[in-house]
Amino acid sequence: MNSKIDLIYEGKAKKIYAHDDLDKVIIEFKDDATAFNALKKAKFDGKGELNCLISSKIFEFLIENDIPTHYLGLKNKNSMIAQKIKIIPIEVVLRNTAYGSLCKQTTIKPGTVLESPLIDIYLKNDELNDPLLTKERINLLKIIDNEDLELITDMTLKINKLLKTFFYNIKLNLVDFKLEFGYNANGRIVLGDEISPDNCRLWDLKQNNGTIVSLDKDRFRNDLGGFIKAYTEINNRINNYINSK
Ligand code: TMP
Ligand code: ASP
Repeated sequence: MNSKIDLIYEGKAKKIYAHDDLDKVIIEFKDDATAFNALKKAKFDGKGELNCLISSKIFEFLIENDIPTHYLGLKNKNSMIAQKIKIIPIEVVLRNTAYGSLCKQTTIKPGTVLESPLIDIYLKNDELNDPLLTKERINLLKIIDNEDLELITDMTLKINKLLKTFFYNIKLNLVDFKLEFGYNANGRIVLGDEISPDNCRLWDLKQNNGTIVSLDKDRFRNDLGGFIKAYTEINNRINNYINSK
């Protein structure tokens, strides 16, 4: 089987290869880390494997809870088989607690727990630096119709409820996260991309002495050190939790 030969696409953190089955792809997770639209770059040995393993466990959990995702199975420790999807060019961010760009762009104080989850939708376009969209701009650009946007919003809220509990059970506070969706071969909207400490903010509830302890990509974004240690901790907590069930 020569399925890893044809590189279809290379992104900042992943490579997509063709699969013998044309409705499937192989997603390889790279050791590269980028932040601020790749202005900041580094390589961490083992990052790809950790994100792939963490994502696969989370996709399995979501699938068990009736969330349609592109995930089909692990190929090896740093690559997974997924449905081939046509990515909808939006980045759907859900925030439970104010942090990051929300606090840079508004007067809300970092760490403020939001009364209800806030969904921010960004245009997936590196050249334009992923600008924040409005519903009107989404309609203007004809990116997605209202019905599908509503479906994605509902799915995101449902995923949030599931993930908040999942992470709370392993003593992590799910501050915010970014999702991507796409249409599969049957025209169905499914969750794509990855779910890992690269695209979720996860604060440790074990070291809860009033300070924020990030176990996610903020360790790289904000030069906090201990990047692989944090990702390994997330992976270990997930494995221990799953094995204890
Ligand atoms: P933000 O506070 O920078 O807007 O990020 C919100 C969440 O989205 C955070 O969990 C990190 C994630 N995120 C990505 O996964 N990719 C991105 O390109 C950006 C800007 C944020
Ligand atoms: N994903 C973006 C980048 O690769 C930004 C981020 O995650 O902070 O640069």
